[in-house]
Amino acid sequence: MNNDPQLIVAMDFPDRIAAERMAGQLDPRQCAVKVGFELFVAAGPRLVEHLQALGFRVFLDLKFHDIPNTVAGACRAAARLGVWIVNVHASGGLEMMRAAHDAVREIRPETRLIAVTVLTSSDAETLRGIGIDRSPEQQVLRLADLAVSEAGLDGLVCSPLEASVLRQRLGGQPWLVTPGIRPGGAGGDDQKRVMTASAAFRAGASHIVVGRPITQASDPAAAVAAILAEIPEQA
Ligand code: C5P
Repeated sequence: MNNDPQLIVAMDFPDRIAAERMAGQLDPRQCAVKVGFELFVAAGPRLVEHLQALGFRVFLDLKFHDIPNTVAGACRAAARLGVWIVNVHASGGLEMMRAAHDAVREIRPETRLIAVTVLTSSDAETLRGIGIDRSPEQQVLRLADLAVSEAGLDGLVCSPLEASVLRQRLGGQPWLVTPGIRPGGAGGDDQKRVMTASAAFRAGASHIVVGRPITQASDPAAAVAAILAEIPEQA
């Protein structure tokens, strides 16, 4: 692993003002930030540029899924913006992922392209409902092989509970970026299948995404420090 931060703070805010307020309480040497749908739709690429100007690496979490040409165009735009990580849905298929991969390489090879396999909100019934008669675990492995081994992507977003099996399957190289992290492993909001940061790294995660335990904390900087203390390399 290079000097990239292994902690990624999910900036799940409704507008630019709230995001900037949080960024002011974070240190870009300690953490990267994740900009998802809500904030990106509200505040757009100028906010991403602003966060980068403050020194933050940005994971643009827009989970592209469309025809290969359209996804390639979106990935090119993300790479031009200079983001650190961008992602796609592996269920978009091999051709789509290869087009995305080529597009990122063409513009900015240091941008990492990772894939979402099966959303953690999907269970066996959800998959059956869309015509997939396999367990979520089988589908995760199928899509992981497709994304990493066949399309050559840099890694996956996955549940920390999938990390050890994916690490065994894919080896040490691919990034495994895991949300669903809670200090002390406690639930308390809509995340049901959670792990502590240290358990996620032990299971094989390369990076963790943490939102509310930091963004809703009375002292976000202290919450960051507590989580960093759990990361072996940064302790
Ligand atoms: O606040 P919390 O730590 O639950 O935030 C987790 C972040 O990771 C949110 O931005 C959420 O959308 C994202 N995420 C997730 N589970 C996934 C994929 C993404 O929680 N399977």
